[in-house]
Amino acid sequence: MTTPAAVIEDAAAYAQAVEAAVQAAAAYYRDGTSALDDDAYDRLVRGIDAWEAGHPDQVLPGSPTGKVAGGAVEGDVPHTVAMLSLDNVFSPEEFTAWTASLARRVGHDVTRFGVEPKLDGLAVAARYTRGRLGQLITRGDGTAGEDVSHAIGTVEGLPRELSEPVTVEVRGEILMTHAQFEHANEVRAAHGGQPFANPRGAAAGSLRARERAYTVPMTFFCYGLLPLTEEGRDALADLPHSELMARAAAYGVNTTAGTPVPGTTADSAEQVLARVREIAALRPELPFGIDGIVIKADLAADQRAAGSGSRAPRWAIAYKLPAVEKITRLTAVEWNVGRTGVIAPRAVLEPVEIDGATITYATLHNPADITRRDLRLGDQVMVHRAGDVIPRVEAPVVHLRTGEEQPIAFPEACPRCGAGIDTSQERWRCEQGRNCHLVASLSYAAGRDQLDIEGLGHTRVVQLVDAGLVADLADLFTLTRDQVLGLERMGGTSTDNLLAAIGAAKGRPLSRVLCALGVRGTGRSMSRRIARHFATMDHIRAADAEAMRQVEGIGTEKAPSIVEELRTLAPLIDRLAASGVNMTEPGATPPAPGETAGEQTADAGAAPGGGPLTGMTVVVTGTMTDALENLSRNQMNELVERAGGRASSTVSKKTTLVVAGEGAGSKRAKAQALGVELTTPAAFAALVADFIGPPADGAAR
Ligand code: IVH
Repeated sequence: MTTPAAVIEDAAAYAQAVEAAVQAAAAYYRDGTSALDDDAYDRLVRGIDAWEAGHPDQVLPGSPTGKVAGGAVEGDVPHTVAMLSLDNVFSPEEFTAWTASLARRVGHDVTRFGVEPKLDGLAVAARYTRGRLGQLITRGDGTAGEDVSHAIGTVEGLPRELSEPVTVEVRGEILMTHAQFEHANEVRAAHGGQPFANPRGAAAGSLRARERAYTVPMTFFCYGLLPLTEEGRDALADLPHSELMARAAAYGVNTTAGTPVPGTTADSAEQVLARVREIAALRPELPFGIDGIVIKADLAADQRAAGSGSRAPRWAIAYKLPAVEKITRLTAVEWNVGRTGVIAPRAVLEPVEIDGATITYATLHNPADITRRDLRLGDQVMVHRAGDVIPRVEAPVVHLRTGEEQPIAFPEACPRCGAGIDTSQERWRCEQGRNCHLVASLSYAAGRDQLDIEGLGHTRVVQLVDAGLVADLADLFTLTRDQVLGLERMGGTSTDNLLAAIGAAKGRPLSRVLCALGVRGTGRSMSRRIARHFATMDHIRAADAEAMRQVEGIGTEKAPSIVEELRTLAPLIDRLAASGVNMTEPGATPPAPGETAGEQTADAGAAPGGGPLTGMTVVVTGTMTDALENLSRNQMNELVERAGGRASSTVSKKTTLVVAGEGAGSKRAKAQALGVELTTPAAFAALVADFIGPPADGAAR
């Protein structure tokens, strides 16, 4: 997608645009603050560029188009070789045009490219003398940078000592991973500081800060290696870029090699574009931010033949990806009560378009999160949205505050029913728990992936609740024919059908009963794992936090809250059991007393006697066909587990198999990028043929 350029109509607008861009760039390079997000800045510079093309005699000397990092803080340490910027392309067509111009300059088609992520941080040069790190310098204006050697100990991936006593300059990007960013803002808030708006700003501010009472870790990734001696020149000058990166990694410097998006080489523009798509598909789940892909002529001879301009090399280009962050205003905070009674804040935003979608709401997680981020109503906030992930408010852009911002009021009573609020955990909850939003919690319990009660949709649940016949889940199972017949629009046949459906629900496996209870922090797959692990409700209820932690995916935080919640649910569970609701998981065996975590995890989810998917982690995506056509996603996951596998919803290096039906988009791309085996629904159906069909409980339709 090409970012449209800002429209500049006359010389006055041009001068204003240059001024705005210079100020934004200065702030960006000084401490990562800027009134413009990256997308707005790119649009402005492209507008300036377009106007200058039509008025070459009126170009202002300060224009950001002619300089490296216009307005950057200038340092006093000269660079050995200028630290250049990169030109940008925004579409496959622009990229192909660039390869054509590169071929013209070089005199032949370039057939070897390096393709690597464009890391969203700050460029630095690290000078090593005989293997020892002596100096760390920012890019500055490209000719000279600022000495930031004081930060050396806080940057991971930049060893003080290389594995060989070489005298070289390592160039690369310093950034904060998402986790480092969260940590940095927590530490900063604890010291009374203002939060950083995003990881890039946090890295810029932290790298230049001296004499702070605290330090925060950052990460370095190398993307360039320069010799600093004659001897080194002889050894390195003719190496391809890809080999220089391997050399840097062998010296002990961090490169992208260990990340989900390692630098690779490609032989043609098509291959480059395929890799661009792969990296773009992986972007939403990377542990750090990238804002594009850098493509470089890999061979030293090609690089020399292409040469460099004053601002950027001609042998490399940045393929920019759409911005995933935009600044907009936080206008309100809504407090919504979920079906389990959790009261969750949600940010209401001035609508903003991010990567093709208009965003008006973003998650705020919990009240503590609001306090930690020091958010206020009216704040300009940095909003992050990548892929299908729910948009989130990263932080306020503090330097844009006007003084008019107002504190965010936290509710004192449940916004839904007015009951008290349990604030003992980070996620607040209505004291009425799941009874607060009874209709939502019962509709969920009756849903296809839980108790699968046909005929018990939302409207019917409302009727039952309004008539005072049902005040919790167990009441469903003691409904009498007369009670149901008394409801409006309920004839004899529908009554009998509904009661039969409720009767059938009593036989569902434990995993579904557990899921229907709506224990906080446990969805469908977690309920299945707990049920398979413990096999019976009695074993689940007997588990303490330590025993609960043996279930895969339950950590030290979740375990005690699940145990506690099950304790409060005890009377309800007793009544369900008394009505004849099944409390065992078919095919699962309870853990033997004293069994260790390792043995349990290996066993969890396995089919008795081992199925064709034993030991495999399987992701199902897209539309299923053939024998699998009528199965819901949840039933597919159940099938995977019956056949001995582990069902997962995200593709990662740990995934063994991806079943990709029609319309499988980003997950298929990710599987290809990671080299994970892909299969069709038909082939998968054949593989697990023995396990398809009504499971032991007869729940499948
Ligand atoms: S190469 C001579 N490779 O992007 C080539 N730069 O917009 C100069 N960047 O100043 C840079 N990831 O700060 C290169 N893999 C990568 C990069 C990268 C991020 C940054 C770097 C550069 C800026 C240009």
